Amino acid sequence: MEINASTRYCAVLGHPIRHSASPAMQNAGFAALGLNWRYLAFDVRADQLRAGLEGAKALRFVGLNLTVPHKLLALEMVDELDESARSWGAVNTIRFEALDPGGTWRPLAQFTDEAPEPIRAKGFNTDADAVVRALRDNLGLKSMRDRVVLLLGAGGAGRVTALRLAFEKVGSLFLVNRTVKKAEDLAAEIRARFPHSNVIVGYPKGKVDLVVNATSLGLQAKDGLPFDETLFSLRQSQAVYDMIYRPAETPLLKAGRAAGCHVANGLDMLLHQGAGALEIWCGITAPLEPMRRALEKEVYGP
Ligand code: ATR
Repeated sequence: MEINASTRYCAVLGHPIRHSASPAMQNAGFAALGLNWRYLAFDVRADQLRAGLEGAKALRFVGLNLTVPHKLLALEMVDELDESARSWGAVNTIRFEALDPGGTWRPLAQFTDEAPEPIRAKGFNTDADAVVRALRDNLGLKSMRDRVVLLLGAGGAGRVTALRLAFEKVGSLFLVNRTVKKAEDLAAEIRARFPHSNVIVGYPKGKVDLVVNATSLGLQAKDGLPFDETLFSLRQSQAVYDMIYRPAETPLLKAGRAAGCHVANGLDMLLHQGAGALEIWCGITAPLEPMRRALEKEVYGP
């Protein structure tokens, strides 16, 4: 569909943004749905996020995705937080909304001709659900209840994952992070929110069901494994999930495969967070297969 004066826009804001695969995935989704929508990517630094959000609002964008370093900053900047963003403590999706004549806030996508006022930005989180969905689809972990999990990384992605796994009532959650204080703070937050959870900072001695890598180790060819091999062995685990998807097989996944674990990379997590965002913006079930094909082509080549 040609871009014209009726084209509606979404975008991802982040810094850096040049390697984002979201435009390819989302534009394939819009095309499959027959929408005259486009998805763009903008390199926006943290100190320009507020201006970026105001700009998108003034231009009547339908919605936004936010990536590093904006997901926490946006919590304070949006006009309204959906329960998902409140629960998981980060915003990765924004939907712009306007008041209808009856006084109800509705997605801007539902307003076609007029430019309504006022507009508000509502923040959502689709990352947390995407992790659970990817673990289920890729590793056959239908339920996380009572599972023993070693989570590597307590940054943005690690925090959302840990909170979501605690909500799913994992049996034991072991947290390891280079900066130990961050893992300890996260453990304290989880214990406060989920008093029955069993969160331990450090490596498990016995068997685990799953190791999740939420650190950035593995992105660079020179990177080693994201855990201390003198304190933990992948032979202790049934499965390994690496949130990194580029390269397709990280050193961690290669080692996991060699140790006989079920392994999966983070591509499906990217897919499902994107599908969740598309559904929030347009209220239609996301066309997963065209989105997945576009994502794979963008990330791994034709
Ligand atoms: P994201 O939003 O992708 O989670 P982040 O919040 O910057 O990004 O978190 C990056 C994670 O990778 C953190 O757990 C970080 O550890 P620190 O909290 O100690 O910074 C981890 N990480 C990054 N580089 C690392 C390295 N060289 N060795 C070990 N962990 C590393």
